[in-house]
Amino acid sequence: MSPFNKNVSTLLLLAFFIIVTNFSMNAKADEFVVHNNATRTSPLNVTCGNSDGDFPSFYVDYGDKHPFEIEDASLNINCFFRWTGVIHKFQIYDNGRDQCVTCNWNIIPDGPCFQDELRGGEQCYPWYS
Ligand SMILES: *[C@@H]1O[C@H](CO)[C@@H](O)[C@H](O)[C@H]1NC(C)=O
Ligand SMILES: *[C@@H]1O[C@H](CO)[C@@H](O)[C@H](O)[C@H]1NC(C)=O
Repeated sequence: MSPFNKNVSTLLLLAFFIIVTNFSMNAKADEFVVHNNATRTSPLNVTCGNSDGDFPSFYVDYGDKHPFEIEDASLNINCFFRWTGVIHKFQIYDNGRDQCVTCNWNIIPDGPCFQDELRGGEQCYPWYS
């Protein structure tokens, strides 16, 4: 390979990596959807917030879902999930753990389950408390 061709391939490779990196950096979380598969007896009460403050709290009926949008995907999000007699805590967004643009969480009694579109599966976690 001539030195010229070698440089061109290096440049093409570099351009390719820049495009790939840009694409994955743009795939930022911008919406969360909370599904209630946890409680029939009372609606699921969800209160979330990040280091900028609390988001408006909402209710989700059993079998239903509630979406909300976020402004800043660099901030992690903590939530409280309340229904009859219980209060659970979980971090529904950890920018190191979760890869999503629309982040779907199915809330079951044992904890929240992340619908992992990238790796094509469901990842369930225990409640923090
Ligand atoms: C909700 O829970 C029921 C009972 O465990 C299960 O059959 C159903 O598939 C769940 N729905 C979702 C969307 O996970
Ligand atoms: C959910 O519960 C909290 C704590 O009791 C309350 O402050 C909040 O208003 C409730 N959310 C809704 C939508 O009523």
